Amino acid sequence: MNIGIFDSGYGGLTVFQKIRHRLPQYDYIYLGDNARAPYGTRSFEVIYEYTLEAVEQLFSMGCSLVVLACNTASAKALRTIQQRDLPRIFASDGVLRRVLGVIRPSVESVVSQTVSKHIGILGTQGTVDSESYILEIAKLDPSIRVFQQACPMWVPLVENGEFNAPGADYFVQKYVSQLLSQSPSIDTIILACTHFPLLLPKIQAVLPSGVNTLSQGDIVADSLADYLLRHPELECTLSKNSQAHFFTTESANKFEATARLFFNGNVPVQKIELTSPHHS
Ligand code: DGL
Repeated sequence: MNIGIFDSGYGGLTVFQKIRHRLPQYDYIYLGDNARAPYGTRSFEVIYEYTLEAVEQLFSMGCSLVVLACNTASAKALRTIQQRDLPRIFASDGVLRRVLGVIRPSVESVVSQTVSKHIGILGTQGTVDSESYILEIAKLDPSIRVFQQACPMWVPLVENGEFNAPGADYFVQKYVSQLLSQSPSIDTIILACTHFPLLLPKIQAVLPSGVNTLSQGDIVADSLADYLLRHPELECTLSKNSQAHFFTTESANKFEATARLFFNGNVPVQKIELTSPHHS
Protein backbone atom coordinates (compact mmCIF):
# COMPACT_ATOMS: atom_id res chain seq x y z
CA MET A 1 0.00 0.00 0.00
CA ASN A 2 1.11 3.59 -0.74
CA ILE A 3 0.98 6.89 1.09
CA GLY A 4 -1.14 9.39 -0.87
CA ILE A 5 -0.35 13.08 -0.82
CA PHE A 6 -3.10 15.39 -2.04
CA ASP A 7 -3.17 19.08 -2.86
CA SER A 8 -5.31 21.30 -5.04
CA GLY A 9 -2.23 21.90 -7.19
CA TYR A 10 1.51 22.24 -6.81
CA GLY A 11 1.66 23.53 -3.22
CA GLY A 12 1.57 20.07 -1.65
CA LEU A 13 4.85 19.30 -3.39
CA THR A 14 6.56 21.57 -0.81
CA VAL A 15 5.22 19.24 1.89
CA PHE A 16 5.87 16.06 -0.08
CA GLN A 17 9.51 17.10 -0.59
CA LYS A 18 10.01 17.15 3.17
CA ILE A 19 8.01 13.97 3.78
CA ARG A 20 10.05 12.01 1.25
CA HIS A 21 13.28 13.35 2.70
CA ARG A 22 12.18 12.35 6.22
CA LEU A 23 10.60 8.99 5.26
CA PRO A 24 12.36 7.90 2.04
CA GLN A 25 11.57 4.21 2.37
CA TYR A 26 7.83 4.38 1.59
CA ASP A 27 5.99 4.41 -1.74
CA TYR A 28 4.06 7.58 -2.52
CA ILE A 29 1.37 8.76 -4.90
CA TYR A 30 1.06 12.54 -5.30
CA LEU A 31 -2.20 13.89 -6.72
CA GLY A 32 -2.66 17.54 -7.68
CA ASP A 33 -6.10 18.69 -8.75
CA ASN A 34 -4.52 21.43 -10.87
CA ALA A 35 -7.44 21.61 -13.29
CA ARG A 36 -9.72 22.83 -10.49
CA ALA A 37 -7.21 24.87 -8.43
CA PRO A 38 -7.34 27.20 -6.65
CA TYR A 39 -9.59 25.76 -3.97
CA GLY A 40 -9.09 28.68 -1.59
CA THR A 41 -11.95 30.77 -2.91
CA ARG A 42 -14.46 27.92 -3.29
CA SER A 43 -17.39 27.06 -1.02
CA PHE A 44 -17.32 24.46 1.75
CA GLU A 45 -19.53 22.07 -0.27
CA VAL A 46 -17.36 22.21 -3.38
CA ILE A 47 -14.06 21.82 -1.51
CA TYR A 48 -15.46 18.85 0.40
CA GLU A 49 -16.78 17.22 -2.79
CA TYR A 50 -13.51 17.71 -4.71
CA THR A 51 -11.38 16.54 -1.79
CA LEU A 52 -13.49 13.41 -1.27
CA GLU A 53 -13.17 12.59 -4.97
CA ALA A 54 -9.40 12.87 -4.69
CA VAL A 55 -9.22 10.78 -1.51
CA GLU A 56 -11.37 8.03 -3.03
CA GLN A 57 -9.19 8.11 -6.14
CA LEU A 58 -6.05 7.69 -4.03
CA PHE A 59 -7.67 4.82 -2.12
CA SER A 60 -8.58 3.12 -5.40
CA MET A 61 -4.92 3.48 -6.50
CA GLY A 62 -3.77 1.52 -3.46
CA CYS A 63 -3.22 4.16 -0.76
CA SER A 64 -4.07 3.20 2.82
CA LEU A 65 -2.99 6.57 4.21
CA VAL A 66 -3.69 9.94 2.60
CA VAL A 67 -2.18 13.24 3.75
CA LEU A 68 -4.22 16.30 2.76
CA ALA A 69 -1.17 18.51 2.10
CA CYS A 70 -3.52 21.45 1.63
CA ASN A 71 -4.79 23.71 4.40
CA THR A 72 -7.97 24.56 2.57
CA ALA A 73 -8.93 20.90 2.14
CA SER A 74 -7.81 20.12 5.71
CA ALA A 75 -9.93 23.00 7.03
CA LYS A 76 -13.06 22.29 5.03
CA ALA A 77 -13.15 18.57 4.30
CA LEU A 78 -10.94 16.56 6.68
CA ARG A 79 -13.31 16.25 9.62
CA THR A 80 -16.30 15.14 7.52
CA ILE A 81 -14.18 12.63 5.61
CA GLN A 82 -12.77 11.21 8.86
CA GLN A 83 -16.09 11.06 10.67
CA ARG A 84 -18.54 10.23 7.88
CA ASP A 85 -16.78 8.83 4.84
CA LEU A 86 -14.06 6.63 6.32
CA PRO A 87 -16.55 4.51 8.32
CA ARG A 88 -18.74 4.15 5.21
CA ILE A 89 -15.77 3.12 3.04
CA PHE A 90 -14.51 0.71 5.72
CA ALA A 91 -17.98 -0.84 5.95
CA SER A 92 -17.91 -1.51 2.21
CA ASP A 93 -14.56 -3.34 1.99
CA GLY A 94 -13.10 -3.74 5.49
CA VAL A 95 -9.72 -2.22 4.53
CA LEU A 96 -8.06 -0.02 7.19
CA ARG A 97 -7.44 3.48 5.79
CA ARG A 98 -6.69 6.85 7.33
CA VAL A 99 -6.70 10.50 6.20
CA LEU A 100 -4.56 13.14 7.95
CA GLY A 101 -4.34 16.91 7.55
CA VAL A 102 -1.83 19.69 8.10
CA ILE A 103 -3.58 21.97 10.58
CA ARG A 104 -3.27 20.03 13.82
CA PRO A 105 0.51 19.44 13.55
CA SER A 106 1.06 23.09 12.59
CA VAL A 107 -0.93 24.27 15.59
CA GLU A 108 0.97 22.01 17.99
CA SER A 109 4.23 23.44 16.69
CA VAL A 110 3.22 27.10 16.80
CA VAL A 111 1.76 26.88 20.31
CA SER A 112 5.08 25.56 21.60
CA GLN A 113 7.04 28.39 19.94
CA THR A 114 5.22 31.64 20.63
CA VAL A 115 6.41 33.72 23.57
CA SER A 116 4.20 36.80 23.12
CA LYS A 117 1.14 34.54 22.65
CA HIS A 118 0.13 36.60 19.64
CA ILE A 119 0.14 34.36 16.55
CA GLY A 120 -0.39 35.35 12.92
CA ILE A 121 -2.00 33.14 10.27
CA LEU A 122 -1.47 33.78 6.55
CA GLY A 123 -3.74 31.54 4.47
CA THR A 124 -6.30 31.33 1.70
CA GLN A 125 -9.70 32.96 2.10
CA GLY A 126 -11.21 29.49 2.69
CA THR A 127 -8.78 28.61 5.47
CA VAL A 128 -9.24 31.99 7.16
CA ASP A 129 -13.06 31.86 6.91
CA SER A 130 -13.13 28.32 8.35
CA GLU A 131 -11.51 29.66 11.56
CA SER A 132 -9.93 26.22 11.92
CA TYR A 133 -6.65 27.64 13.23
CA ILE A 134 -8.43 29.79 15.80
CA LEU A 135 -10.46 26.81 17.03
CA GLU A 136 -7.52 24.38 17.14
CA ILE A 137 -5.19 26.84 18.89
CA ALA A 138 -7.88 27.64 21.47
CA LYS A 139 -8.14 23.91 22.29
CA LEU A 140 -4.43 23.80 23.17
CA ASP A 141 -4.04 27.23 24.81
CA PRO A 142 -7.08 29.52 25.14
CA SER A 143 -4.89 32.41 26.30
CA ILE A 144 -3.26 32.72 22.86
CA ARG A 145 -4.59 35.45 20.55
CA VAL A 146 -4.77 34.57 16.86
CA PHE A 147 -4.74 37.15 14.04
CA GLN A 148 -5.58 36.07 10.50
CA GLN A 149 -5.00 37.52 7.05
CA ALA A 150 -6.30 36.04 3.79
CA CYS A 151 -3.84 36.31 0.89
CA PRO A 152 -5.97 35.60 -2.18
CA MET A 153 -3.34 36.76 -4.70
CA TRP A 154 -0.51 34.55 -3.43
CA VAL A 155 -1.70 31.17 -4.76
CA PRO A 156 -2.20 32.50 -8.32
CA LEU A 157 1.27 34.13 -8.19
CA VAL A 158 2.82 30.81 -7.18
CA GLU A 159 0.74 28.60 -9.50
CA ASN A 160 1.77 30.83 -12.40
CA GLY A 161 5.47 30.79 -11.52
CA GLU A 162 5.53 34.53 -10.66
CA PHE A 163 6.68 34.13 -7.04
CA ASN A 164 10.18 35.51 -7.76
CA ALA A 165 8.96 38.33 -9.97
CA PRO A 166 9.10 41.97 -8.81
CA GLY A 167 5.33 42.16 -9.23
CA ALA A 168 4.91 39.73 -6.32
CA ASP A 169 6.51 42.25 -3.91
CA TYR A 170 3.44 44.46 -3.86
CA PHE A 171 1.09 41.68 -2.73
CA VAL A 172 3.57 40.26 -0.22
CA GLN A 173 3.99 43.66 1.40
CA LYS A 174 0.25 44.30 1.32
CA TYR A 175 -0.90 41.15 3.16
CA VAL A 176 2.00 41.07 5.63
CA SER A 177 1.34 44.72 6.61
CA GLN A 178 -2.37 44.00 6.98
CA LEU A 179 -1.58 41.11 9.31
CA LEU A 180 0.95 42.99 11.42
CA SER A 181 -1.33 46.03 11.71
CA GLN A 182 -3.73 43.84 13.71
CA SER A 183 -1.16 43.39 16.50
CA PRO A 184 2.39 44.70 16.95
CA SER A 185 3.06 41.79 19.33
CA ILE A 186 2.81 38.95 16.78
CA ASP A 187 6.03 36.94 17.20
CA THR A 188 5.18 33.81 15.17
CA ILE A 189 3.45 33.50 11.81
CA ILE A 190 2.23 30.24 10.25
CA LEU A 191 2.42 30.08 6.46
CA ALA A 192 -0.92 28.27 6.50
CA CYS A 193 -0.97 27.43 2.81
CA THR A 194 1.36 24.95 1.20
CA HIS A 195 2.01 27.30 -1.71
CA PHE A 196 3.42 30.06 0.48
CA PRO A 197 6.92 28.68 1.25
CA LEU A 198 7.89 29.71 -2.29
CA LEU A 199 7.26 33.32 -1.26
CA LEU A 200 9.25 32.95 1.97
CA PRO A 201 12.28 35.06 0.93
CA LYS A 202 9.98 37.95 0.01
CA ILE A 203 7.91 37.51 3.17
CA GLN A 204 10.99 37.48 5.41
CA ALA A 205 12.31 40.59 3.66
CA VAL A 206 9.33 42.64 4.83
CA LEU A 207 9.00 41.19 8.35
CA PRO A 208 10.51 42.99 11.35
CA SER A 209 13.38 41.07 12.96
CA GLY A 210 12.23 38.80 15.74
CA VAL A 211 9.11 37.63 13.93
CA ASN A 212 9.37 33.91 13.16
CA THR A 213 7.73 32.18 10.21
CA LEU A 214 6.75 28.52 10.24
CA SER A 215 6.55 26.58 6.97
CA GLN A 216 4.60 23.37 7.22
CA GLY A 217 6.77 20.86 5.34
CA ASP A 218 9.07 19.79 8.17
CA ILE A 219 6.29 19.99 10.74
CA VAL A 220 4.01 17.68 8.73
CA ALA A 221 6.87 15.28 7.92
CA ASP A 222 7.80 14.95 11.62
CA SER A 223 4.19 14.50 12.59
CA LEU A 224 3.69 11.78 9.95
CA ALA A 225 6.80 9.94 11.16
CA ASP A 226 5.44 10.08 14.69
CA TYR A 227 1.97 8.91 13.54
CA LEU A 228 3.45 5.87 11.80
CA LEU A 229 5.40 4.95 14.94
CA ARG A 230 2.22 5.12 16.99
CA HIS A 231 0.16 3.15 14.44
CA PRO A 232 2.05 -0.05 13.57
CA GLU A 233 -1.22 -1.65 12.39
CA LEU A 234 -1.31 0.87 9.52
CA GLU A 235 2.45 1.20 9.05
CA CYS A 236 2.80 -2.53 8.39
CA THR A 237 0.44 -2.26 5.40
CA LEU A 238 2.78 0.23 3.64
CA SER A 239 5.16 -0.97 0.95
CA LYS A 240 8.77 0.21 1.08
CA ASN A 241 10.35 0.47 -2.37
CA SER A 242 11.13 4.22 -2.26
CA GLN A 243 8.93 4.93 -5.28
CA ALA A 244 6.95 8.07 -6.10
CA HIS A 245 4.27 8.46 -8.75
CA PHE A 246 2.62 11.74 -9.68
CA PHE A 247 -0.85 12.40 -11.05
CA THR A 248 -2.55 15.63 -12.09
CA THR A 249 -5.97 16.54 -13.41
CA GLU A 250 -4.34 19.12 -15.76
CA SER A 251 -1.99 18.57 -18.69
CA ALA A 252 0.98 16.34 -17.84
CA ASN A 253 3.41 18.57 -19.77
CA LYS A 254 2.33 21.66 -17.90
CA PHE A 255 2.58 19.89 -14.53
CA GLU A 256 6.08 18.53 -15.22
CA ALA A 257 7.41 21.94 -16.22
CA THR A 258 6.00 23.78 -13.21
CA ALA A 259 6.50 21.03 -10.61
CA ARG A 260 10.27 21.46 -10.94
CA LEU A 261 9.91 24.82 -9.18
CA PHE A 262 8.42 23.06 -6.15
CA PHE A 263 10.18 19.72 -6.03
CA ASN A 264 13.79 18.60 -6.53
CA GLY A 265 13.94 15.44 -8.57
CA ASN A 266 12.09 13.79 -11.38
CA VAL A 267 8.37 14.29 -11.57
CA PRO A 268 7.07 11.83 -14.18
CA VAL A 269 3.35 12.54 -14.19
CA GLN A 270 0.17 11.11 -15.66
CA LYS A 271 -3.07 12.92 -16.24
CA ILE A 272 -6.20 11.48 -14.62
CA GLU A 273 -9.82 12.52 -14.26
CA LEU A 274 -11.53 12.61 -10.90
CA THR A 275 -15.06 11.26 -10.81
CA SER A 276 -17.83 11.77 -8.31
CA PRO A 277 -17.59 9.41 -5.37
CA HIS A 278 -20.56 7.30 -4.30
CA HIS A 279 -21.45 9.27 -1.21
CA SER A 280 -24.95 9.99 -0.02
N1 DGL B 1 -2.18 24.98 -1.16
C1 DGL B 1 -3.50 25.04 -0.64
C2 DGL B 1 -3.50 25.30 0.85
O1 DGL B 1 -2.59 24.87 1.54
C3 DGL B 1 -4.49 25.97 -1.28
C4 DGL B 1 -4.29 26.46 -2.63
C5 DGL B 1 -5.60 26.73 -3.29
O2 DGL B 1 -6.22 27.77 -3.04
O3 DGL B 1 -5.98 25.85 -4.05
O4 DGL B 1 -4.41 25.89 1.35
